[in-house]
Amino acid sequence: MLAKTPPMGWNSWNTFGLNINEEVVVETAKEFVRLGLDKAGYKYIVIDDGWSELDRDPVSGKIVPDHVKFPNGMKSVSDKVHELGLKFGMYSCAGTRTCGDYPGSFDHEFLDARTFAEYGCDYLKYDFCYMPRTANGPLMYRRMGLALKASGREILFSACSWGRDEVHKWIRSVGAHMYRTTGDINDSFESFRDIAFSQQDLLGYSAPGCFNDTDMLTVGMFGNGLVGTELGHGGCTDAEYRSQFALWCLFSAPLILGCDIRKLSPEMLALVTNKNLIRIDQDEEARPPIEQHVSLTSAKNRVYFKHLSGGEYAMGFFNFGEHEHRIRTNLTDFGLSASSGLKLTLKDAFTDEPFGSFTEYMNVPVAPHDCRVFIGRLENV
Ligand code: GLA
Repeated sequence: MLAKTPPMGWNSWNTFGLNINEEVVVETAKEFVRLGLDKAGYKYIVIDDGWSELDRDPVSGKIVPDHVKFPNGMKSVSDKVHELGLKFGMYSCAGTRTCGDYPGSFDHEFLDARTFAEYGCDYLKYDFCYMPRTANGPLMYRRMGLALKASGREILFSACSWGRDEVHKWIRSVGAHMYRTTGDINDSFESFRDIAFSQQDLLGYSAPGCFNDTDMLTVGMFGNGLVGTELGHGGCTDAEYRSQFALWCLFSAPLILGCDIRKLSPEMLALVTNKNLIRIDQDEEARPPIEQHVSLTSAKNRVYFKHLSGGEYAMGFFNFGEHEHRIRTNLTDFGLSASSGLKLTLKDAFTDEPFGSFTEYMNVPVAPHDCRVFIGRLENV
């Protein structure tokens, strides 16, 4: 079964945009292994938009890799990625052209799926630009869903229609393994905060086999994104990246890194390979967290409580405001009654240090734009 747990990997878009090439992809794959990202669970190396020539081959009708960016063709890149023990991903679009204006797969789905299979592709991200007005979004994803199944290769299907057509309601039925529910992220605090705030009602649809995708992470980019677009501006602080990563983990969202892996700082490497956070993200039950808005502040702070398998629980306290807050919560809101005879014993997910045992309430100081994440179990008082 594909996507038993949320897919993990890297995608070229956030940092490289359309300027992607063989060297970057192969160097990234090598760096993945050198840094141990593969051992932490990251396995897909995905080439996004901009990999092909501007037109299909007039004789075969196939999409052709750009001869300058990929001088040895795609099979050779895919072989190099596979030799490192990683999986290889590619990109196309349900419309006539991709968002970057390269050939899309509309009306060529079965040919293109076979071509991706020939390349040795293990993952296809399928975008939604240039859709003919008369075309039907769900039908286009049904078509590529079948085309991938008929391609002769097991290919993970990553749908990217930005939440259109209430995608969460039907996408699981077309064979997809993950699906975007928002527009594009950019490398700012506001962007990931707004994405996170928009997700709570959708997470109940996300489950093993097909996961709600809150977009590629900007963690570790520090503003070094896609030149000439808003992804290239701003950037986040370490605290903000901690919050972004922790939110994605509490949501059981796919963890697709978008930074330049060759320039990953030690702090960011530690963050994205943090065993407790990845354990929360990859929990086999993939339950949505219970979300609580903390109304005493105007900053829309959030507390999350997530059931994990094996009798464990994760909690996240997020300060979206500009000042330090003590974020308070009553554990009764998550089901723990004071008369239960039980206490929740937690450790800090970032440091692994014991944090304490709690029966009725918690009152946790959190720095601005930062978070605290805990993991633990119920014990007798
Ligand atoms: C859309 C997608 C992005 C990226 C670009 C490529 O905007 O949502 O994730 O794939 O297209 O052009």
